[in-house]
Amino acid sequence: MTKISIIGAGNVGASCAEYIAMKDFASEVVLLDIKEHFAEGKALDLMQTATLNGFNTRITGSTNDYSKTAGSDVVVITSGIPRKPGMTREELIGINAGIVKQVAEQVLTHSPNTIIIVVSNPMDTMTYLALKATGLPKNRIIGMGGILDSSRFKHYLSVALQAPASDVNGMVIGGHGDTTMIPLTRLASYNGAPVSQFIAADALAKVAADTMVGGATLTGMLGTSAWYAPGASVAVLVQSIVCDQKKLFPCCVKLEGEYGQNDICLGVPVIIGKNGWEQIVDVALNDAEKALFEKSAAAVRSMNEVLQSM
Ligand code: LAC
Repeated sequence: MTKISIIGAGNVGASCAEYIAMKDFASEVVLLDIKEHFAEGKALDLMQTATLNGFNTRITGSTNDYSKTAGSDVVVITSGIPRKPGMTREELIGINAGIVKQVAEQVLTHSPNTIIIVVSNPMDTMTYLALKATGLPKNRIIGMGGILDSSRFKHYLSVALQAPASDVNGMVIGGHGDTTMIPLTRLASYNGAPVSQFIAADALAKVAADTMVGGATLTGMLGTSAWYAPGASVAVLVQSIVCDQKKLFPCCVKLEGEYGQNDICLGVPVIIGKNGWEQIVDVALNDAEKALFEKSAAAVRSMNEVLQSM
């Protein structure tokens, strides 16, 4: 019996539930929202797709009753407000910090052994906050950003390569912010061959730039932040945990000396399995990439410091 709870039944939360159900690896998904009947409605609508999509996952909804989430193996926190066009993720800290702290504490009361995935923005700081607020072992708090940013990176690479995205590999590390993420273009590959052999330097720089504002571009088009790719990213992360797949993903985790950083949660490649993030993978960065990583860490650290004044 595998139970997943998703806090926040907005666009991202509902997409997470849908993609998790479609993969059919969980027995139960609980959607929780503060808005009266909203999560129940999303759950009911999704359950009415079960025979069409052929899944057996039972999805239920709850209006702010955390006892319904009891005994969850994984809890996904999407709570808080999404950004509006023109806003940075960082501008959400004032409202979302209080919400995420409260949610994380309530989640843990009912699921003391759970693994928490943080999606709320500014994600790197919210992951750090969840870690501090709950006191959970570091391996059980994972911020989801790098999988999504890498997926956007691979999409833009595939367009530049005129190749199917499934032939493209690549990774984005660092913060989940428009200016803090680091698309590792040097290591990206077209079925094992370096993409720089096929994409001119200026076009590759544009791929990186488009990736970094990937979320902002969608916010401008949609009027609110994206949900399909964030939801799908959470689903693959949850699946790697509950099915103990040991997949390698960039995720936001607590660093204790790795990549030269301490007392910060930041995106690095990790192995994801039944214990949460199980190992940080040390990818050799060149000097330019190391400098970008340090700059990213400094920006996230100054955002973390805002928490102290709240
Ligand atoms: C995005 C949000 C989920 O990047 O941070 O779309």
